[in-house]
This record gives sequence, C-alpha cells and structure tokens, in this order.
Amino acid sequence: MRLYPDPTASAVIEALAQTLGVRPGQVTLGNGSDEILAFCFQALCPNGVAFPDISYGFYPVYAQLYQVDIHTIPLRDDFTLAVEDYAGLGRTIVFANPNAPTGLALSRAQIATMLETNPGSLVIVDEAYIDFGAESAIPLLEQYDNLMVVGTFSKSRAMAGARLGYAVASEALIADLNLIKYSFNPYNLNRMTLAAGAAVLEDASYFEACAQKIINTRIIAKDKLEKSGYYCTDSMANFIFVSHPEYEAEVLQGRLRAEGILVRWFNQSRIKNWLRITIGTETQMDELVKIMDSITNK
Ligand SMILES: Cc1ncc(COP(=O)(O)O)c(C=O)c1O
Repeated sequence: MRLYPDPTASAVIEALAQTLGVRPGQVTLGNGSDEILAFCFQALCPNGVAFPDISYGFYPVYAQLYQVDIHTIPLRDDFTLAVEDYAGLGRTIVFANPNAPTGLALSRAQIATMLETNPGSLVIVDEAYIDFGAESAIPLLEQYDNLMVVGTFSKSRAMAGARLGYAVASEALIADLNLIKYSFNPYNLNRMTLAAGAAVLEDASYFEACAQKIINTRIIAKDKLEKSGYYCTDSMANFIFVSHPEYEAEVLQGRLRAEGILVRWFNQSRIKNWLRITIGTETQMDELVKIMDSITNK
C-alpha cells in the first residue's frame, strides 16, 4: 500500500476488454461509473444534454454542477422511452438501459435507431443494470462512433464498495476521457480495487450464475405480487417497480418499514404511487411478498 496504484489500470482494462469483446484502447475505468458520468457531463456535452424525465437522479445533478443546458424528455405514460422523441436533438443524449427506477429496457435495434437519428451527437448508454436480462449496446460500437457505453462493477458484480466503473467507446472518445482523468486524479482507482476488479473477472461462470439467480428471484417475486393484485413493470434490472391501484405507495413503504423492510419511494409526481424494490435472497423476497399480500388481502 505504500506504492501508488497503476494509473493505467492495465491489468483490469485488459481483462475487461476481453470480457466485453473490445480492444483495451476502447476502455477506461472510473471511481464508480458516477465518476465516468461526471467526466462526460463536464466535457462531452458541448451543446447541452438530453435525458428522460424519470431516470438516474445524478444526471440533473451533474448537469447543474457543470452548467450544462438540460432538455428533459418525458417518458411515455407507460414509462417507455420512445426513440422517436430523441431524433435529431443536436445535443448529447444520456439514458439508463435498463432504466432506473422503472427497470424497462430498449432493445439493441432501438438504440441503433437512436444512434442513426443523431449522427452528430454523442449517445451515452448507462448500462449499470445490463446483466440482469437486457441487451448490451456494446456490439454497436463497431458501427457507430457516436456511442459510449458506461458500466459498473457495483450491481451484477456486487462490488459497490470498491468503486469501479467503466466506459467503452471509440479509441478517440476514450482518449478524451483519459485526458480528464489524468488532469483530475491519475490514481483514481486504488490498489485494492484494482486487485479485486482483476480477480472478479476471472470467474465468468460464477458471475453468470449469480446474475441468473437474481433474475429467477425477480421473476418469481413479480409473479407472486401480480397474483396479489400489484402491478409491476417488465423490469430487466435487479429491482422491481411496483404499484397498487388502491394502496398508496407511501403508505405501503411505511408498512414495510415497520416490518424492517426498506424499499424506495420517490416523492416525484409521476412515480408517487410506485415503489422500487431491490431483489434480495429468495427468503427475503418471500417475506416481502407475504407482508405485501397481507396488506392488500385483508
Ligand atoms: C443508472 C445508474 N447509473 C450509474 C450508477 C452509479 O453506479 P456506481 O457509481 O456505483 O458505478 C447507478 C447507481 O445506482 C445507477 O443506478
């Protein structure tokens, strides 16, 4: 620990490039994907930024911090993102796929349409939750140099505390991000995180089995909640987004909290009646479903 870490993070970058099927020069790492996103807002939004009205809460925060002009585009009533709403915007686009907190995802073909209808603008696809069932946009990098994919080890790789995120894009865009990293903090990733990051990439089958377990638990929990009268979006993430026609989400959150279960309620007009529930173990989800069922089926 007395030595500074490798500023090029080459061991993790090489292993990650191989895992993702890209060249090492197309990858850079950040202190969590939040740092990568911050760099993007700081430097890659020359004509402003566009993002959905319901999405990751840090987008507007970074935009305000770096004084980037914001254009928010409402999701449709069913919370889907309509790619035609994003055509020819003339500014950088950022969105989470799957989205948070809705869990809904665009297909790779829909993302290709967005890239084609914004030829002069950067499109940043935040794939924080991609490993829980949605299609990654990474294969589109061969065809589109206006694409950047941002990812993280915090969710499917269960390393949120280590702070390790990444960007994958053309070599030119990655060189731009590296310029910022080296001007800000060349040692943005500590030695322990780099060692853990390289080690975790060695066991692909364990990783896939863990992600699959969460997907299976999500499907079962969703099915049971729907049978109890709840409505769930078609989430492709490691959480479900749940509503009930008669019970207010804030009230449900309070009832769950009283039982020692913490779920996320957002005090925002369009999603006021929804809860974001992270998928836990099968036992935890059974307990949650039992309580939610007892609230509505008295
Ligand atoms: C959509 C999305 N993007 C990015 C992040 C940031 O993740 P991290 O900085 O841990 O890589 C999160 C974290 O919750 C997220 O939900």
